[in-house]
Amino acid sequence: DTKIWRVDPRQVSAEGLREAAACLQAGGLVAFPTETVYGLGADALQAEAVAAIFTAKGRPSDNPLIVHIADRDDVARLTVGFPALARRLAERFWPGPLTLVLPASPQIPAVVTAGLATVAVRMPSHPVARALIGEAGTPVAAPSANRSGRPSPTTAAHVWEDLGGRIDGIVDGGDCDLGLESTVVDATGDVAVILRPGGVTREMIEALGLPVRTAFAAERLGEGTGAVAGTDAVAGTDAVAGTDAVAGTDAVAGTNEAAEAFCCDGDVEPGGGAGDFVPPSPGMKYVHYAPRAPLYLLDGGWEGQVEALRRLLSPSAERGDDAGPTGLLISEDTYRRIEPMLQQCGDAGHGEKWVVRLTGSREDLATVARRLFGAIRAFDQTTVARIVAETYPHRGIGSALMNRLEKAAGGRRWPG
Ligand code: TXA
Ligand code: MG
Repeated sequence: DTKIWRVDPRQVSAEGLREAAACLQAGGLVAFPTETVYGLGADALQAEAVAAIFTAKGRPSDNPLIVHIADRDDVARLTVGFPALARRLAERFWPGPLTLVLPASPQIPAVVTAGLATVAVRMPSHPVARALIGEAGTPVAAPSANRSGRPSPTTAAHVWEDLGGRIDGIVDGGDCDLGLESTVVDATGDVAVILRPGGVTREMIEALGLPVRTAFAAERLGEGTGAVAGTDAVAGTDAVAGTDAVAGTDAVAGTNEAAEAFCCDGDVEPGGGAGDFVPPSPGMKYVHYAPRAPLYLLDGGWEGQVEALRRLLSPSAERGDDAGPTGLLISEDTYRRIEPMLQQCGDAGHGEKWVVRLTGSREDLATVARRLFGAIRAFDQTTVARIVAETYPHRGIGSALMNRLEKAAGGRRWPG
């Protein structure tokens, strides 16, 4: 049986979280809201409790977890040393959607770090998360509270959908504000290496005057992306502890081969062509956020995307509709441009041919990001045979947004 504790994030009381905190102390599994997505928490210092997280999620055991703390000073208990770069980042961005990869203290159970010499630490800003961790009085290991391979949950209902009956409880603190997982930064060296883009953007780190590099793939399409990270995406991954084995880095420049490897289909390691490619963050090698129906990304600038949608909607287009309706994951701006054509299709967009989910305005990518995972989950409740999704500029939060869309698409483009 999974308990639900409702908590108003504007009026958090220790009282309201006492049972959930006691459950964590007793080695239980409790899902809770953060400003990014819901996490599935266990006491990070109890190996058995942490092991149960992997079972509940169906998560591969070689993918390490993030340890959440309520107080900045708690980082000292989890790491050996706090490098100057990490200190700057924590001062500026904690509490908030930033995870720092740091040298791990030997006190941390190996099940948390998947045996790595580093540990990922984050101090969330969500009042419910902080009160819960504080009340439990222990660091809390928590991956996103979804079944492995599903989009991260941004509401308590999403958590219930995936894990109801499999965990001890869910603290329902309403919808998550950011809707995408935290930025993961390797802060063990002199350069901030972004392993996963998120709410703390590259631009925000650069504004501190710190050297930054990215080590995630993608940024391959959409507006103004001629420059695939080519140089940036993979080169110099050796800075990341223990993963100097990026295959054929020179072959990568400008060819996206590494990006292809990240986006491979299948569950585990990218095969053929990539050689013994070792991703800088273990999570990178897994396919994430895949909706039930294949998702295709539109490419190019906005006008080009609208044009491609018009061709798709034109009565003469060959779409193979027999397999089921097509989902359109598009902005309000784009919807306005194609609405007349949807009506000409005879069903105003609500009939059997098209299922439209609006992401928000192209001028407000934070809203698009907040809604993304919920929209993908909503398509799973329909009979769509395919989803065609709009893409966005890579500026600011757009970089994290596009990273998640790329993962959902697994390399699929529309038109193919
Ligand atoms: O926003 C978030 O980060 C959410 C909330 C709950 O805090 N958590 C989350 O956790 O997204 P998870 O487990 O879904 O993603 C953690 C990512 C994985 O890609 C994992 O491989 C990476 O962080 N990671 C964890 N420890 C690492 C380490 N020592 N070195 C490199 N990457 C690490
Ligand atoms: Mg996750």
